[in-house]
Amino acid sequence: MPRGQSSPSRGHMLGHGFYNRHSQEQGLANQLALPLLMRAVDALERAPVGPELRVADLGSSQGRNSLLPLASVVGRIQRRWSRVPAISVIHTDLPGNDWTSLFNTVLTSPDSYLAGREGVFSLASAASVYGPIFPAGSIALGYSAVVEHWLSRVPGPVTGHLWSPRAGERERAAWADQARKDWRVFLTERGRELIQGGRMVLVLSGADEQGLSGAEGLMDLVNRVLGDMILAGELTAGEYAAMAIPTYYRTRAEWLAPWNSSSWARGTGLSVEHLEEFVLDDVYLEQCQNGGDAGAFAEDYAAFFEAAFQPALFGALDPKRGEEDRRQVRELFAKRLREGLAQDPAACSARWWMAIMSLVKS
Ligand SMILES: C[S@@+](CC[C@H](N)C(=O)[O-])C[C@H]1O[C@@H](n2cnc3c(N)ncnc32)[C@H](O)[C@@H]1O
Repeated sequence: MPRGQSSPSRGHMLGHGFYNRHSQEQGLANQLALPLLMRAVDALERAPVGPELRVADLGSSQGRNSLLPLASVVGRIQRRWSRVPAISVIHTDLPGNDWTSLFNTVLTSPDSYLAGREGVFSLASAASVYGPIFPAGSIALGYSAVVEHWLSRVPGPVTGHLWSPRAGERERAAWADQARKDWRVFLTERGRELIQGGRMVLVLSGADEQGLSGAEGLMDLVNRVLGDMILAGELTAGEYAAMAIPTYYRTRAEWLAPWNSSSWARGTGLSVEHLEEFVLDDVYLEQCQNGGDAGAFAEDYAAFFEAAFQPALFGALDPKRGEEDRRQVRELFAKRLREGLAQDPAACSARWWMAIMSLVKS
């Protein structure tokens, strides 16, 4: 997006630290990428890093899930490198991010990469990943977890649903096309920003060969709840139509397409060192099945859903609604969602299809 334009606000997470408290699932995905991230750090020692090594945490949200990966990066460099540079960690996210929670987390958590360390600096930038963020050749290590499925815009409708994997063939093509364009901008900019020999490690929310994200059961329930709210006169059809969530889940072929079928990818200087797919365990369902109850599962799952998707969904409410009215709509939705989740936890459990990817700049 050109600078100076207002940025999309529907992609950010629920504020006041709510996402930090309800994102264990995303936290697990971050943990599983740790070995790949450590390999990238080790390879970096041979790169021409100057007296300051810059690490970018793209789409950091409120910071909790970045603590372990970033503390591991900083700790490994400081423990193992023969020449230890100063390390600057730069968190980026959309302008509407809950930056207060991010800074409170990073500055005060005992698990922070800053805790008990010298020579480490924390910075931030409110910029979309679909545009330039840093000067050319300035970033040694990029890290981005569970971000790139958020598109820069809603490319079109998903008739009868709000989840792009549920779009019909023609509508899905518009979503795939936007995802292709966004991925291209992302790779072009990151290729420009990385130093030679620099690495980018990505934890990606993707799709199986059929284009399914693994969360279709949950999103079908959400869709049914919203449909019932329209029937009850609590939501208008126009509001529902505007609720398409601006995410798209790329298949392995779509992640790799720039290197397989286009020549522009070579111009970025980036190549793929590693790509591995896996299905994420559902931590909430496991808790439920290991002696928890359906009511607790419903509470936790509704909170997980709201943390990630409430701003996207309810940003679409008619601007003429007052604040109290909007609050009531959100609460009604959350109540019905909890009821639906409690009825059949296994049917709504998400098995997110993930990929971890490491890119190197030559
Ligand atoms: C699911 S959260 C992931 C947060 C954190 N990295 C984690 O692993 O828990 C997705 C984050 O991506 C951010 N995001 C969405 N679209 C973005 C964009 N175009 N540019 C930068 N960040 C974006 C959201 O604001 C949100 O903080």
